Amino acid sequence: MAISPLKEINHVNRTISPAIKIAGCMELPGDKSISHRSLMIGAIAEGTTEIENLGLGVDVQSTISCLTGLGVKVERNGKQARIHGHGLRGLRPPSVTLNVGNSGTTIRLLSGILAAQEFDSEITGDGSILKRPMDRIIRPLSQMGAKIQSKDGRYAPLRFEPSELSSIRYNVPVASAQVKSCLLFAALYANGMTHVTELSSTRDHTERMLQNFGANVNKKDLTVSMAGPAQLEATSIYVPGDLSSAAFFIAAATLVPDSELMIKNVGLNPTRSAFVSVLTKMGAKVDVVNFATVNNEFYADLLVRSSGLNGVVLNGNLIPQLIDEIPIIAVMATQASGRTEIRNASELRYKETDRIRAVAVNLSKMGADVEEVEDGLIIHGPMKLSFAELESFDDHRIAMAFSVAGLVSDGGCLIKDSECADISFTKFYEKLEEIKIA
Ligand code: S3P
Repeated sequence: MAISPLKEINHVNRTISPAIKIAGCMELPGDKSISHRSLMIGAIAEGTTEIENLGLGVDVQSTISCLTGLGVKVERNGKQARIHGHGLRGLRPPSVTLNVGNSGTTIRLLSGILAAQEFDSEITGDGSILKRPMDRIIRPLSQMGAKIQSKDGRYAPLRFEPSELSSIRYNVPVASAQVKSCLLFAALYANGMTHVTELSSTRDHTERMLQNFGANVNKKDLTVSMAGPAQLEATSIYVPGDLSSAAFFIAAATLVPDSELMIKNVGLNPTRSAFVSVLTKMGAKVDVVNFATVNNEFYADLLVRSSGLNGVVLNGNLIPQLIDEIPIIAVMATQASGRTEIRNASELRYKETDRIRAVAVNLSKMGADVEEVEDGLIIHGPMKLSFAELESFDDHRIAMAFSVAGLVSDGGCLIKDSECADISFTKFYEKLEEIKIA
């Protein structure tokens, strides 16, 4: 079967020069996790879902492309989208292999839906996706009755045959919102009550979003329960700005002296906002103002002023709550006084690249005092960073984290293949230039 084409990311090197200060007011594109979920749930709801402030990254585009491959009409006008839902049973058999590009969230979440269909389908992605573990979803979906073929029982491409799913009780052996969400999507189709128990609490956007669409989702301690088959009703969604994208700007305004930056409408879901509390603990000045609620989610404006930082210990149940922010926290730790220790974070080795290795390699090149351990990083600061040519490892969060490192380094830095930032944040470098005084 032909594979549906996706937008190519250009291979461009980029020089980041040091900043004198960061100043201004900005608003960020919609949260990536919430954007994926609003599109997928909108596609299987009854009626038309309107989405405002949809994320603009390539990953979100990949989700739209996969849904289009399943016959769903998505009208998009910049940050606004309208999805004509097909109901739970109305998706069409794809005529091509669905292509998620670089998006782990798309392949893992959509697999929960594909596993329950009455038609065959195949889903794959780029070189990074082909190396990421899919057995974490294959195993529980198979227990629900899904018929899945994969490479070596572990990797994409994944091929789904028509299946009828039954509900399960499942303890997820890794702390992963993607696995939890995949199973909740499958549970929408399964007869009976599904119970998914997490190892530790992960982002709960799926549970909140399913409630918005009328599903009866219950949460008690670490267990989420839902009865299927469910019926979902279209709704209107506003997607708050992405805290994981804001993290790079919060870091920049904290690290560059004499800075003051306002970031409007940033998502502050309690299972995602640990980055802000950890930074505050490190000594950062982040004021949370204009707190508001929308569609079961929280958001606020963040006023950030530069400040000195102290080292911090991050481990245990905190790690899943700031998993995507660890690369930028590691960069900040090089400028903090004392020791920063990040442990129990081996999940980072299974992201778009091995992020523990990528951070250690790049920080070492810049002259930081960094030690790579199996499940994390140990960093001693403060250290003056110096110019280096850095790899992005084709990982958006590595490219953006080290752009911030360049702002406070002697002579800046060069980031190879910098355009992978587009994966979660198109126009990241333009936004950085807008608030940077060099
Ligand atoms: C995501 C969950 C996290 C995160 C990823 C987005 C989601 O992955 O790293 O960027 O939207 O559910 P895991 O669930 O695999 O930890």
